[in-house]
Amino acid sequence: MGDIGVGVIGTGFMGKAHAMAYRAAAGIFPGNLKPVLQTVADVDEAAADAAARQYGFRRAVTDWRALVADPAIAIVAITTPNMFHREMALAAIAAGKHVHCEKPLAPSVAEAHEMMEAAEAANVVTQVGYNYIKNPLLSLAREMIASGELGEITSFRGIHAEDFMCDPEVPYSWRLDPQGGGGAIADIGSHIIGLARFLIGPITEVNADLATVVKSRPVGPGAAERRLIEVDDIARLTVRFARGCGGTIEANWAATGRKMQLGFEISGTKGGLVFTQERLNELSYYKAGEDPRENGFRRIEAGPQHPPYRNFCVAPGHQLGFNDLKTIEVADFLSAIEGGVRRGPDFREAWEIQKVVDSAIASSKSRAWKEVA
Ligand SMILES: NC(=O)c1ccc[n+]([C@@H]2O[C@H](COP(=O)([O-])OP(=O)(O)OC[C@H]3O[C@@H](n4cnc5c(N)ncnc54)[C@H](O)[C@@H]3O)[C@@H](O)[C@H]2O)c1
Repeated sequence: MGDIGVGVIGTGFMGKAHAMAYRAAAGIFPGNLKPVLQTVADVDEAAADAAARQYGFRRAVTDWRALVADPAIAIVAITTPNMFHREMALAAIAAGKHVHCEKPLAPSVAEAHEMMEAAEAANVVTQVGYNYIKNPLLSLAREMIASGELGEITSFRGIHAEDFMCDPEVPYSWRLDPQGGGGAIADIGSHIIGLARFLIGPITEVNADLATVVKSRPVGPGAAERRLIEVDDIARLTVRFARGCGGTIEANWAATGRKMQLGFEISGTKGGLVFTQERLNELSYYKAGEDPRENGFRRIEAGPQHPPYRNFCVAPGHQLGFNDLKTIEVADFLSAIEGGVRRGPDFREAWEIQKVVDSAIASSKSRAWKEVA
């Protein structure tokens, strides 16, 4: 097993998730690359130092450029706010590093395109943090759809609803910056759009209605001064897929009571599937044509028969969690770096997702259907 140096930029929610996943991956998956937590970077020096100590990085720095320039680092993981992704990723690519970037890839489709082109020209491996699609049960759902087990797909109803922006006193932050890839559509909508593409395929047209529920927020924590909000809290999309069916997608970060309702209902002529991340170890499956007295949705429980669940646990029903999905994402990335299958989602797929996000924003502004060009 060979060591591979990892640098993580950012120490927030995702910085910790990346650090944990890079620490865990080699112990859980049998690949040949063993990540070594080389350096963590954060503009907040105390946060960088604390992260280095707690997660086991050899070094903490405040300047991410020092991390990118370090020859001991082969993987740069970017877990900073969206507006920094482009500059950091382009520098890492120019230095010949493999890049693991959080989602959404960039604030706009033009920036995402530039990043994708640079990565492909440099032939580095890229990975984007659409971790929810790494759920073993969603691989099963994808297989069931692709094999025709559900018949012809007639409808996709997807949602990503949380309530962390419900409270009008939640202050202004980078997630609300219209130039920085803010709004529910980019922040959580990109997850359900990515999931829709993963299961059903490309989205070709979108008709969207974006709404701002909380019109102003404090400029900072506890501030009396308020700032007008320009991005959406709720995005409602009607979509058409290349395969011919239609669907709906909702992104809503002001959904009172919802903590992680990333879910879907898929109808096919021979069956249906229902899923929510709130119960991520369960997939509901309805098979048409069975004895109507006994027919109904049945619950498929995650177990070692659903790869790569077995890598974590040999017993069914013991359940995976959010951080395990991140570990699967890292294991897939390491395997691709080693020369294995590139499972992605890579920068190209993240650019495709960004096209749908930008088309939805444009559709809502013009009150018209938009082609996802
Ligand atoms: N995949 C997922 O499920 C998921 C979940 C949450 C967030 N995200 C994404 O992860 C990214 C970060 O989100 P978060 O919730 O972790 O944010 P966060 O605010 O918790 O953390 C961001 C970190 O970046 C640091 N930072 C900011 N500017 C920096 C700079 N110039 N150099 C170095 N460090 C800098 C901050 O100090 C902070 O530690 C975003 O792109 C977000 O959309 C993904």
